[in-house]
Amino acid sequence: MNPQIKNNEFKNLLVTGGCGFIGSNFIRYLFSRSDFEGRIINVDKLTYAGNPENLADIAEAHPSRYIFRQADICDFSSMEEIFSQYAVDAVCHFAAESHVDRSIRDPGSFIFTNIVGTFNLLEIAKSVMPSLVRFHHVSTDEVYGSLGPQGLFREDTPYRPNSPYSASKASSDHLVRAYFKTFGLPVTLSNCSNNYGPYQFPEKLIPLVVLNALEGKPLPVYGDGKNVRDWLYVEDHCDAIWTILRKGRTGETYNVGGNAEIENIVIVQQICDLLDEMVPPKGGAPRRTLITFVSDRPGHDRRYAIDFSKLRDELGWTPTESFTSGLRKTLSWYIHQKAWIEHVKSGAYRTWICEQYGP
Ligand code: NAD
Ligand code: DAU
Repeated sequence: MNPQIKNNEFKNLLVTGGCGFIGSNFIRYLFSRSDFEGRIINVDKLTYAGNPENLADIAEAHPSRYIFRQADICDFSSMEEIFSQYAVDAVCHFAAESHVDRSIRDPGSFIFTNIVGTFNLLEIAKSVMPSLVRFHHVSTDEVYGSLGPQGLFREDTPYRPNSPYSASKASSDHLVRAYFKTFGLPVTLSNCSNNYGPYQFPEKLIPLVVLNALEGKPLPVYGDGKNVRDWLYVEDHCDAIWTILRKGRTGETYNVGGNAEIENIVIVQQICDLLDEMVPPKGGAPRRTLITFVSDRPGHDRRYAIDFSKLRDELGWTPTESFTSGLRKTLSWYIHQKAWIEHVKSGAYRTWICEQYGP
């Protein structure tokens, strides 16, 4: 029913949102592999979260195999033109508005990008279907809602999204599955837990806390800090996606997780302790003193936990990084990337984008 895709069948892989956190790590990961021989067309609108600097070295090292196009997935004709110009034969779709707090303040862009943008890609993919070998949709465990103290999200857990972000992702998941059932589009889906690692925009918990802690600023913890997330090192997520792209059965969803359920407060404490060891605080006071409990996020999901046994048993994937080793790597990356941090914080990278691609 679903023969494995040979590596050389991905001649022209369209990656959407490739200048964001996971997308840029995924492109970097692919170029480090000997079993990927194709060309990547990275389409990114370059919102506040998209930073082409993340891939400047890749663009320089692989000029014939890496193409960047600044474009909005909501712009149907631009997407059509890109599919046709580069003879796209596979899609790995990351582009999204991704931050829950922003979706609570201003949900409109989540509806457009996450739902309408995905719909556009599906329509165009359908129109080039005989030559399209795979459409992989990157999604989130948040579509399943919130767990109590027990239990795990499985692929057959009913969808109960609670934020505008997760509702928009749930909607896009349904569209993707519908295009498989109705039109036979060769789709796969992955629903993953919280990622962390290099190049994550400092609005998400881990990079926000790292940067604030290095500057001696308060470390905001929502509510009682006992909400639980499952954490996965971003490179392990990239490896899972590559595994599913090549070997996943079409029409199937695969949950991806890190086997690392941790309360937010414990993460923040661990970051403080590790940073104290790696970069002793100037004033001498331990960084835990910066922890500040603040108002809770509206509709804050209490607990996420993932059962990824389908991906493990069917396709042989398991995470390689423990939370302790992954966190140490991540902190070390942020400590040594002063220029990247300065550009992101000062907005200087946006000035650079405007110079390169216009406002
Ligand atoms: P991100 O916010 O860091 O990056 C998103 C990228 O998409 C940015 O480069 C942005 O410029 C681009 N983009 C946004 N709107 C666009 C549009 N209309 N057209 C083209 N490009 C656009 O997000 P991320 O954390 O890298 O997440 C990537 C994907 O993975 C998302 O689909 C997200 O739902 C999913 N996901 C994320 C996590 C996580 O922990 N970060 C976990 C599971 C799933
Ligand atoms: O589970 C996968 C999801 O993980 C992805 O789909 C999302 O794109 C990604 O942003 C992430 O969502 P979360 O809302 O879980 O991540 P965030 O880093 O925003 O928050 C993690 C937890 O920490 C959450 O319980 C809220 C809390 N938090 C967050 C921030 C930014 C704080 O306590 N303080 C903070 O300042």
